[in-house]
Amino acid sequence: MRKTLTLIAALAAGSAVAQQAADAVQPEATTTGGFAAMSRQVAVALKAKDDGLPVTGQTWMVAAANPHAVQAGADVLAAGGTAADALVAVQAVLGLVEPQSSGLGGGAFLVWYDADSDALTTLGGRETAPLAATPTRFQDANGEPLKFYDAVVGGLSVGVPGTPALLATAQAKWGTGDWADLLQPAIALAQGGFDVSPRLAGLVAADADRLAQFETTASYFLPDGQPVQAGQRLTNVAYADTLLALAADPDAFYTGAIAQDIVDTVNAAVPSGGLLTTLDFSLYTTRERAAVCAPFQDHEVCGMGPPSSGALTVGQILGMLDHYDLAALGPADPQAWRLIGDASRLAFADRGRYMADSDFVPMPTKGLVDPAYLAERAKLLAGDDALPEVSPGNPEWDHAMIWADDESIELPSTSHISIVDSFGNVASMTTTIENGFGSRLMVRGFLLNNELTDFSFRTHSDGVPIANRLEPGKRPRSSMAPTIVMKDGAPVLAIGSPGGSRIIGYVAQAIIAHLAWGMDVQQAVAMPHAVNRFGAYDLEADTTAAELQGPLGEMGFDVGTRELNSGLHAIAIGDGLTGGADPRREGIALGD
Ligand code: GLY
Repeated sequence: MRKTLTLIAALAAGSAVAQQAADAVQPEATTTGGFAAMSRQVAVALKAKDDGLPVTGQTWMVAAANPHAVQAGADVLAAGGTAADALVAVQAVLGLVEPQSSGLGGGAFLVWYDADSDALTTLGGRETAPLAATPTRFQDANGEPLKFYDAVVGGLSVGVPGTPALLATAQAKWGTGDWADLLQPAIALAQGGFDVSPRLAGLVAADADRLAQFETTASYFLPDGQPVQAGQRLTNVAYADTLLALAADPDAFYTGAIAQDIVDTVNAAVPSGGLLTTLDFSLYTTRERAAVCAPFQDHEVCGMGPPSSGALTVGQILGMLDHYDLAALGPADPQAWRLIGDASRLAFADRGRYMADSDFVPMPTKGLVDPAYLAERAKLLAGDDALPEVSPGNPEWDHAMIWADDESIELPSTSHISIVDSFGNVASMTTTIENGFGSRLMVRGFLLNNELTDFSFRTHSDGVPIANRLEPGKRPRSSMAPTIVMKDGAPVLAIGSPGGSRIIGYVAQAIIAHLAWGMDVQQAVAMPHAVNRFGAYDLEADTTAAELQGPLGEMGFDVGTRELNSGLHAIAIGDGLTGGADPRREGIALGD
């Protein structure tokens, strides 16, 4: 089957069409008005995004989900700071202006390219389950899984946050700036106030009933009982005070009154209190691990290993697709999307069975991205139609173990930060509090995560244990896929996205668009989405991607259209730097 979809074909053909693509894919409005007044640099970056053009630079660049946060990072980089320094400034501001997505109360994964040592590594700042947690925590008295929001809202879902530890560790290892100074932009903005963005205002209004359940949360997001409005000036003195405490002592989050306040708030939540203790906080550590890499188009696509499924699943998809000539097919050919869709289904089958926290369960980590295994799996894609059946494969194990398929639910929130500094260091960090507004519990000016609902609510299936079941001290499986693409040992692309388990499809598609189809990073992040996890093929509504519905349906895929709310932020490193920010969200790239 060879049907040409002219509009999608045109995506690869130049900026006029990139403009058309950018215009077509804005399920949530971009917000140029308030932000454009921040500075000329921000106004130029917003205009570039609206025009579908990448931002360019020679020395440094930062791309993230909110112009205030990007500006804070840009100021650090312009003053000679490293990407690790800028990361602290960006995350501290995001926790204020985009509080629904990430912050001190959540977790993050960082992929880091260190220019000095010419080495790639990863830092895991994933939340941990309390030591008192039991595997059946998310089941009712009959052993049935709780309804999702019954589990999310309140103290039951809150794990020990990892983002503060990750930031402190990364900055101590790779930063050169003064830790306290790096928090200053966020402190000033929290004290002086910031204008609520249209996106934040819209999300608060949509979630008002849940936010209203907890007094501290309600008084911040629903002052006088009404959702904060776009353009309303909001201060957060409690957040500024928390940052001041962290400025004085980076460990303060885990040792003293802050940890105690979180424990008290979580455990006292009504109707569902948690089981955290200050011991859980004092035991928290970040994990440094080797990156997981897979080959694609003469590049190595590298990212975060367990407990994230991100790099393994993106790597499996791309590693299988590398056996087919996607470049020759091009984005117009439905056969390209058949290959992408079925490679994704095969990868998600393995993800559901094998991927979890490898500190707790044996995992075939190497086997899952072994080239010989992926070559065998790729042979399954040789036909013309959708695979009628998709099941997990049998990757090589270091030691034997069999798991049942996972049943965790993930909804999209989260945020991604890409940074390149003037020394050549590269940071790619995805950061989250899980659901939008996390557990809805707020302490000292920041929201607490609901990351524990990323565990499987069931522990077994037909008597076989599920790898991603809840266990005390364990880290829930993630889909976050912060990525650095390497070519001949050098970094060429930093990229990542929010989007729950669709993160994997968003990141894989953007890498294909950039490397195989020659799109610049702005075109690649703006391109209409078509993502397949394990069930339906999701096409982005009201975009040219929806034109694939007929051809993919004829091939046997279960196809539907829906809003697909990625938040891709990418920096390409080559002859200079080019940055792209997803038009579906409020972010920008800034560079010099
Ligand atoms: N909670 C989103 C993720 O970690 O994938």
